[in-house]
Amino acid sequence: MGLVEQELSYLRGLVYRESAIVIEPRQDYLLEARLLPVAKDAGFADVSALVGQLRARVTNGLHTKVVEAMTTNETTFFRDIHPFTMLKQEVFPRLLQSRKLRRTLDIWCGAASTGQEPYSVGMLVKESFPELASWRVKFVATDICTAVLERAREGIYKQSETNRGLPASLLVKYFERSGADFRIREDVRKMIEFRQMNLIGTWSVTGPLDIVFLRNVLIYFDVPTKKSILGRIYDLLAPDGLLFLGGAETTLNLEDRFERVQVDKSVAYRPKK
Ligand SMILES: C[S@@+](CC[C@H](N)C(=O)[O-])C[C@H]1O[C@@H](n2cnc3c(N)ncnc32)[C@H](O)[C@@H]1O
Repeated sequence: MGLVEQELSYLRGLVYRESAIVIEPRQDYLLEARLLPVAKDAGFADVSALVGQLRARVTNGLHTKVVEAMTTNETTFFRDIHPFTMLKQEVFPRLLQSRKLRRTLDIWCGAASTGQEPYSVGMLVKESFPELASWRVKFVATDICTAVLERAREGIYKQSETNRGLPASLLVKYFERSGADFRIREDVRKMIEFRQMNLIGTWSVTGPLDIVFLRNVLIYFDVPTKKSILGRIYDLLAPDGLLFLGGAETTLNLEDRFERVQVDKSVAYRPKK
């Protein structure tokens, strides 16, 4: 038997409260589909029984498992390519120049999922800006979901994942075989610190930040949450820092203190002067 409205709205409420992810009633099928494995894993016959346990407020980590199961962790190496083109052609060359005296850079990737996005930036730095090896580059990658962060830290990818977006030359150069899979080399792994962080909780990243990647996560949030997160990013960005969002995301009508910068097909946002 499917979930009744009361159970569905309890689950929507729980996920929203804990992560700000909005589950529309038309997406209710996702609750059933993604939570059945969580229910079975915890020894329940179905999602309804899981909801009963969640409502009893027993603190056994089940609430967190439910929220994590409702995150969408879709990602690829060099996703949408344009932000990486802009980093290579415009952003890093400019920052290398403007930060040449203090030789520090601060980068944050705020919805890192299984790590393909921050590792793409890491490989780009290794490939095109080897001089940064002698700088203090602080590169933090965060996500709400501990399971994806564990995978990111491990840096092991299936061929179906390395086939998506990763040029063969970089696969050869920056990965080693791990059974049937590929593991990103330790020197690239060591560039990035992966941390659990909820975008609607307390932030452990500190500014001023030079580059922020917050791609393909605002789409899951409502307008007040987007406004609040963009405002907090504004406060953390260096005056000449840049924010990269996903292709379907914008600061427009959400945070007026940003302006859009376009270079060819690449778009980013910077604090208005
Ligand atoms: C679709 S992935 C995007 C991954 C990557 N940025 C990209 O564009 O390929 C969205 C990620 O946001 C994370 N996420 C969702 N809600 C979050 C929250 N409240 N705080 C931090 N991360 C969150 C999810 O766990 C998921 O890994």
